[in-house]
Amino acid sequence: MKKNVEILSAELEAQFSFMAQVKALNQKEKRVYIQTFGCQQNEADSERLLGMAEQMGYQKVTEAEKADLILINTCAVREHAELKALSITGNFKHCKEKNPSLIIGICGCMVSQEHRLGDIKKRYPYVDFLLGTTLIHRFPEILCSVITQKKRFFWIDPDTAVIAEGLPVKREKGASSAWVSIMYGCNNFCTYCIVPYVRGRERSRNPKVILDEIRALLDDGVKEITLLGQNVNSYSPSEPENYDFADLLTDICALEGEAIIHFMTSHPKDATHKLIDVIAAFPPTKNKIGISRRFHLPLQSGNDRILKVMNRRYDSARYLSLIDYMREKMPDIAITTDIIVGFPTETEEEFLDTLKIVRTVRYDNIYSFIYSKRNGTPASEMEGQIPEDVKGERLRRLLDLQGAISKEKNNDYVGKVMRALVEGRSKTDESRLTARTENNRLIHFEGDDSLIGDYAYFYIEKAEAHELFGKLADAE
Ligand code: SAH
Ligand code: SF4
Ligand code: F3S
Repeated sequence: MKKNVEILSAELEAQFSFMAQVKALNQKEKRVYIQTFGCQQNEADSERLLGMAEQMGYQKVTEAEKADLILINTCAVREHAELKALSITGNFKHCKEKNPSLIIGICGCMVSQEHRLGDIKKRYPYVDFLLGTTLIHRFPEILCSVITQKKRFFWIDPDTAVIAEGLPVKREKGASSAWVSIMYGCNNFCTYCIVPYVRGRERSRNPKVILDEIRALLDDGVKEITLLGQNVNSYSPSEPENYDFADLLTDICALEGEAIIHFMTSHPKDATHKLIDVIAAFPPTKNKIGISRRFHLPLQSGNDRILKVMNRRYDSARYLSLIDYMREKMPDIAITTDIIVGFPTETEEEFLDTLKIVRTVRYDNIYSFIYSKRNGTPASEMEGQIPEDVKGERLRRLLDLQGAISKEKNNDYVGKVMRALVEGRSKTDESRLTARTENNRLIHFEGDDSLIGDYAYFYIEKAEAHELFGKLADAE
């Protein structure tokens, strides 16, 4: 289904003039604090919010107490994500009491739900504005309105299907890495999922614009680019005709430079042999653009009845045949997945089908979730909701199984040499650096900051379920 998508240009001019207006109103430099929840799409949106804030004279700070503007970019995918965002919002009340001129805005998926609006308006009277995901380009306008009219504003419109090109971006992912959204929204309506309701209809950016953006990132020294979309396999721009995600990857790999391309997320119903062939044809190579040896292919459930009720539109046989084809073409590919346990009506036997697929595929890693009821989705209304203790017990069994598999698979790398991009200081141990391998594994090692942003070779000494430990080595 191709929809007429409006590519904004005239309206963006207006936004740039709002940016100039806010900057003039602020006079001196101000400070912005942002807290981001949820997926990479939200990370990318926060970079745009910060980019616009910077144009309006706001410098980013890491302590909310010091900020003149607090932004909370929320997620709604599971109840836990919403509770965290609401609790953080509650914590910021004391900041407003100390500094009445502080402006607090909530953006993202949680506030893009109608039922949250009234709730937040009433319970958090110190929040100045709410801005939905599809209106993010109007951030300068809403901020300007709050400052000049001294009123609260609540703008959400999940049904708009616009693509805003040319917004300023403040890259936060590190000097050598960047996100590039290639599409927005989702049309799949998996019965458990809130995303299509809060991110609007699926729309794909023009490949020329994407290629220009990537060229600029490469010129800037970026070595790792993650292409983003809720279902990158259904990338389908309005022109050129019949151009798909595999074509986009081919065109990206034809650019000059050295970088690795990751992408998220793929839907098994739309993943094609053509796509797998293209990935196989462009391995990460020195002085070239190559595609990551990691494929994230969400399974959700290993049982065909549950997959049907989830509206996933593939069965376990199709899923496994894709994995077989991938491994036939790229024996070294790392495969990861998402799994939901305790979907309404899931029986013990049906859950065992999921464990069976996990044993068959032997994933490199899985992201597993307890089913969470989402307001307005079909699954939330289904009879046969699974009790919390049963869901928790299923999750533990799944985690135990995968923990053992991940550890065994990582152990295979001990004693080997791997090429990886040095990302920065380790988040868990400041005395070490981390590097990401071509199949997305993290290596911890001791080394000098001057290595950050470059590829290096590592001899792997030790493995845990989720990380590797090694030392710098000569090329294989
Ligand atoms: N577009 C991506 C997923 C986005 S949400 C895709 O289709 O793969 C990320 C993951 O959250 C999903 O893959 C799913 O496993 C999980 N998820 C989504 N809704 C959920 C819910 N209501 N309860 C539990 N997990 C959920
Ligand atoms: Fe949600 Fe399904 Fe869309 Fe993924 S494909 S965002 S799980 S509706
Ligand atoms: Fe959450 Fe929205 Fe992403 S619901 S997972 S932040 S698309």
